[in-house]
Amino acid sequence: MTRLLIARGHSLGGPCVKERTFIAVKPDGVQRRLIGQIIHRFERRGFKLVGMKLLQVSKDLLSEHYCQLTKKPFYPDLVDYMTSGPVVAMVWEGPDIVKTSRMMVGHTNPAEAHAGTIRADFSFHISRNVVHASDSTEGAQREIQLWFDGKDLLNWDCIDQSVTSEL
Ligand code: TYD
Repeated sequence: MTRLLIARGHSLGGPCVKERTFIAVKPDGVQRRLIGQIIHRFERRGFKLVGMKLLQVSKDLLSEHYCQLTKKPFYPDLVDYMTSGPVVAMVWEGPDIVKTSRMMVGHTNPAEAHAGTIRADFSFHISRNVVHASDSTEGAQREIQLWFDGKDLLNWDCIDQSVTSEL
């Protein structure tokens, strides 16, 4: 699958590719009123929100989203947890956002996540790790198409773009 390439700029480290990724605040994050704090982390990093919705996830959607995990022993508990309440689904855009957002979110197991990451700061157990972030550009494309209609994603210009991302 081709990498989503929206625009090319140049940084001191070489060309940078603007990407989109799928981020979700899981039901524990919504229940604990962490939506704002999680959005704030992506905003203050300089990334751009291009799609967002609050929804109750169906088991069908979840089994497609986690299609590689359906045989895992923890999968039934994961389904119960992910369908226990609303989820905030988002698409964010920015240079190298897939890799950067995985670093911001932290290790799957909060006990192994670095301090300052979302999972380390807000959770202590792998089964309630607050947030999802796509783990590859291919995964991001697949998840964005699964969770969103293309028409619900906005192309818009941040007025600070030349300050935050282009020399
Ligand atoms: P995974 O895709 O491996 O991790 P990540 O969310 O970091 O991409 O797993 C999906 C979710 O499944 C994970 O966020 C939490 C849950 N999970 C468990 O509950 N127990 C486990 O042992 C693992 C590996 C994951």
